[in-house]
Amino acid sequence: MKITLSVIKADIGSIGGHLRPSKALMETVEKHIEEKKGDMVIDYRISSTGDDIAILFSHQKGRGNSEIHGLAWDAFVAGTAKAKEEGLYGAGQDLLKDSFSGNIKGLGPAVAEMEFEERENEPFIFFAADKTDPGAYNLPLYLGFADPMHCSGLILSPKMSKGFKFVIMDVAYTEEDRYIELNAPEDLYDIAALLRDNERFVVSEIYSRDSGEVAVAASTTRLHNIAGKYIGKDDPVMLVRVQGSFPAAGEILSPYNIGHYVAGFMRGSHTGPLMPVKAGCGTSFFDGPPIVTAAAFCVQNGIFTEAVDCFDHPYWDYVRRKVARKSTELREQGFSGAAMLPYSELEYGGIVEKMKQLEGKFKSL
Ligand code: F6R
Ligand code: MG
Ligand code: MG
Repeated sequence: MKITLSVIKADIGSIGGHLRPSKALMETVEKHIEEKKGDMVIDYRISSTGDDIAILFSHQKGRGNSEIHGLAWDAFVAGTAKAKEEGLYGAGQDLLKDSFSGNIKGLGPAVAEMEFEERENEPFIFFAADKTDPGAYNLPLYLGFADPMHCSGLILSPKMSKGFKFVIMDVAYTEEDRYIELNAPEDLYDIAALLRDNERFVVSEIYSRDSGEVAVAASTTRLHNIAGKYIGKDDPVMLVRVQGSFPAAGEILSPYNIGHYVAGFMRGSHTGPLMPVKAGCGTSFFDGPPIVTAAAFCVQNGIFTEAVDCFDHPYWDYVRRKVARKSTELREQGFSGAAMLPYSELEYGGIVEKMKQLEGKFKSL
C-alpha cells in the first residue's frame, strides 16, 4: 500500500519561557485532530520536544497536500487559542502568517514528508530537535548513511553496497528551493564540503541507490528567512526509514552518541552540543542544551504501532552526562569566540543596534 508520512511541528506556546508546552495545549491539538480528521488521515501521533509540538500523520494524499497541511494549521490555531487562554509564553509564536494558504511550508511550522510503497515490514524513526536548526542533522546523516565507522551495513550488507544519494538544500537561497544531488561514496568529499556549513547547506532527502527508495525526509525551513527577523530557532523534524536496504535503527542512532556541537541554545545565538533525550523532555540549562528526541515505529496499512522511545535506554544516560559536560565546558567561555554564533546567525537584532551606537564613538589617532 502506498502511504505518505507527514510530520508537521510548531512552537505555539509553552510554560515558564520556552521550556515545554502544557498538557492542556497538547490535548487541545490532539482533540482538534481527532474531531476533524474525518477519513483523510489514517493514523496520527502527537508529541512534544522542548517547546515544540509535532503531529505525525499517515495518509494517502501525497506530499504537500493542502487538506493535511490545513488540518495541522487549524490544530495549531486551536492550540494557540488554548495557549492564550492559559497565558502560556510565546502563544502562537511559529504561526507567522495570519491565514492558511494551501501549504503550511513558508508559514512557520516545520514540515518533513515522504511517500512510499510500504514494505512488508516498515520500520522508521521520527526525530525532533529543539533549540537548534536543520543543519543539526547533517553530521548524523552523513555518518549514518555514508561512514562505515557508524554504519557497518555499508561493509556488511549487499543491499547497501551501492551507497546512498544525498539531496542537499541551499537554505540561504530564498527565491525557490535550490538543491544539489550527490552520491555517496563517490562524492563523499563534496558532500562533506557542503555539510561542513550547517547554516547554509542542509540534507533534505536521502535515497537508496540500490532500490531507489526514499530513506530520509527532513525539514529545511529557516524561520528568519520567512519573517526577516528573529522569531525563534528552526527546530527541525525528520523521518528516517530503517532496516533492509536502509541502515539499521542502531546505525542511524549511533552518531548521536557524539553530542556534536550545533547552532542554537540560548536565544538561538550560541553553540552547544546536541543532547539525545527522552520523549517529552523540556529544555532547561541556558535554554538548552539543544536536544533531540527519536521515536521508532512500525507502520502497516498506515496504522502506527506504539512508539519506542529510542533515547530512553541506560546507554544514553552515559551520553547525556558526557553532553552535559561538553555543554558546561563551552558555556565556561560565555560570549567569547566559538561559544557564540557568528554575526550572521545571531538571531536577536539588539547587537546590530549596539554596534551602530558604538561605531560613532570610535576615534582615529
Ligand atoms: C531559543 C529560545 C529561547 C529564547 C529566550 C528569550 O530558540 O527560544 O532561548 O530566545 O528564552 O526569549 P524571549 O526573547 O522570548 O524573551
Ligand atoms: Mg521556541
Ligand atoms: Mg522550539
